[in-house]
Amino acid sequence: MKLAGKKAIVTGGGTGIGKAIVMEFASAGADIAICSRNAQNIEKVRDEVIALGRNALAVPMDVRVKEQVDNMVGKVIAEFGRIDILVNNAGINRPTPVLDLTEDTWNLIFDTNLKGLFFCTQAVARYMIKQHCGKIINISSNASRGANEPGQAAYAASKTGVNAFTKACAREFGPYGINVNAIAPGRILTPLIHASRTPEQVEKFIEVGKSTSVLGRLGTTEEIAHLALFLASDDAAFITAEIIACNGGRTNLMG
Ligand SMILES: NC(=O)c1ccc[n+]([C@@H]2O[C@H](COP(=O)([O-])OP(=O)(O)OC[C@H]3O[C@@H](n4cnc5c(N)ncnc54)[C@H](OP(=O)(O)O)[C@@H]3O)[C@@H](O)[C@H]2O)c1
Repeated sequence: MKLAGKKAIVTGGGTGIGKAIVMEFASAGADIAICSRNAQNIEKVRDEVIALGRNALAVPMDVRVKEQVDNMVGKVIAEFGRIDILVNNAGINRPTPVLDLTEDTWNLIFDTNLKGLFFCTQAVARYMIKQHCGKIINISSNASRGANEPGQAAYAASKTGVNAFTKACAREFGPYGINVNAIAPGRILTPLIHASRTPEQVEKFIEVGKSTSVLGRLGTTEEIAHLALFLASDDAAFITAEIIACNGGRTNLMG
């Protein structure tokens, strides 16, 4: 098993891509702390991980609140003793045209997608630096690479920030044996898509996703989880500072 004995944190691990990553890591032998705001969701996933024979923690928390992030990391260290893998997956979207964007919406998107990711990275990296090893995997987005539909300005800007932050952290933490990479998923039908769009907009999301993918389809949460497992494993030991797309080949990004 590629992650036997490893200890991982997955933010936003109660649903969608995060849940798929939790289950993939657990099947590969990792013990996992699952954290997000909705306690019910993460407790359900925790029980599924325990059913696989792994140790698991569900820690309700909001990545936007530094104190809650620090408390979560303290609980994980108290329970697991170390942290080998951090997956910064928690994210949110509120598609809004630029002229209609309010400061509150901008802040919600940036505080969740970028500031929360910074809080989690900083808190965990302090331990990884002492350990002299670790893997940090940030979930970015295809939107950061210019494949934007209207209404994605704040989301795309936050995810472009994630890419820049990923590279900066890779540079600073590399000397301590820590790999920092990002995954930029293409279109995948998850609760985030349904929560941020009308049913008509979801249909459009699917239609555009199929027509702009070389493979002619949307991705699955498991396909992102397979890539996360590779990046978390020793197979990816010489890969760092990369933003890796997993998007079925987007025709509008192929030149
Ligand atoms: N689906 C796509 O097509 C797609 C494409 C590219 C990138 N992504 C990225 O993939 C990641 C996962 O999204 P998803 O599509 O799987 O949607 P999702 O199921 O809605 O997952 C987002 C997760 O983030 C958590 N979260 C949101 N705000 C949080 C906060 N303040 N504190 C802690 N946790 C928070 C949510 O849990 P709670 O509500 O319980 O807090 C939820 O579990 C996101 O970063 C998203 O931007 C998705």
